[in-house]
Amino acid sequence: MVQPGSDMEAAAICLRKGDIVGIPTETVYGLAANALNADAVAKIFTAKNRPYFDPLIVHVHSISEALKYVHSMPEKAKLLAEEFWPGPLTLVLPKKEIIPDLVTAGHNTVGIRVPSHPVCLELLQQLDFPLAAPSANPFGYVSPTTAKHVADQLGEKVCYILDGGPCMVGVESTIVGFPQGEPVIYRLGGIAVEQITEIIGPVAEQISAGSNPSAPGQLDVHYSPRCKLILSDYTEVNDSESTCYLRYSAPIQGIDLSRQFILSPNRNPEEAAVNLFATLRMTDAAGYSLIVAELLPETGLGRAINDRLRRAAAK
Ligand code: TXA
Ligand code: MG
Repeated sequence: MVQPGSDMEAAAICLRKGDIVGIPTETVYGLAANALNADAVAKIFTAKNRPYFDPLIVHVHSISEALKYVHSMPEKAKLLAEEFWPGPLTLVLPKKEIIPDLVTAGHNTVGIRVPSHPVCLELLQQLDFPLAAPSANPFGYVSPTTAKHVADQLGEKVCYILDGGPCMVGVESTIVGFPQGEPVIYRLGGIAVEQITEIIGPVAEQISAGSNPSAPGQLDVHYSPRCKLILSDYTEVNDSESTCYLRYSAPIQGIDLSRQFILSPNRNPEEAAVNLFATLRMTDAAGYSLIVAELLPETGLGRAINDRLRRAAAK
């Protein structure tokens, strides 16, 4: 059982020899391997129990590094990269041969991003290869936002867990592709849609689930706690001792406060995102049988949070 630590050299040694490592990013913790080594990447799929049709995101330390792995960047992709990298934005772009098909699930595109977490950036700079990394959780479960979350579920399966503290964003990166040269948002995430349209104008969205999604973050049952979750806006609730409440900013009057979890007392969606996944894990661990979740206003990161809550409710 690997315990999290801050020894960057230990993490680098594991990665250089083709092993998998839990790494901090600003969004969620990743389960990383050398993206150019298919044998190393295969270990990610095995450890996560992840289906091979679900492609991985490749992490690099700079735009110039990204250009080594993609054939071209449409003008609007360049504008987004210049504005939001390093940061929680993944661009899906035509891949070069050097990226193994296993990473991209056979697609001729690769999802690539420059993370802003200083520990992650420093690690990437010390390596002479990029890191393929999905979120460091068993497939379908809530993403990890602390090193301990990674240790709890994957501690037996990794070579090292690099601790970078709690994640500052708390939801995964926003994913933007350019299927016909024009931008399409595939996954809502840490960069709000409003921030993207401010830079490149109106953007199409393809976020709904399908049997063969272009971004499996679109699968309905993603991000699910084990415990049943319902959305309070749509459901009559029969309260009991084993029911807890996930609230945006204020508790429901007349219900035991110890069973109500507030994501952001100040009604700040960024703060709510930081607390979302840790709160879902905690309610699972506490043994509640039902989570009644309140949706946020549909603006800014509220949309990404609501997307995760709806998927958790779809299970
Ligand atoms: O914030 C994040 O993006 C985190 C951190 C670790 O960087 N990573 C993450 O990875 O959320 P993961 O595997 O949980 O989600 C990656 C999503 C998947 O739904 C995958 O299908 C999509 O990115 N994706 C990757 N490459 C793609 C491609 N070529 N085309 C379409 N979607 C792609
Ligand atoms: Mg994931």
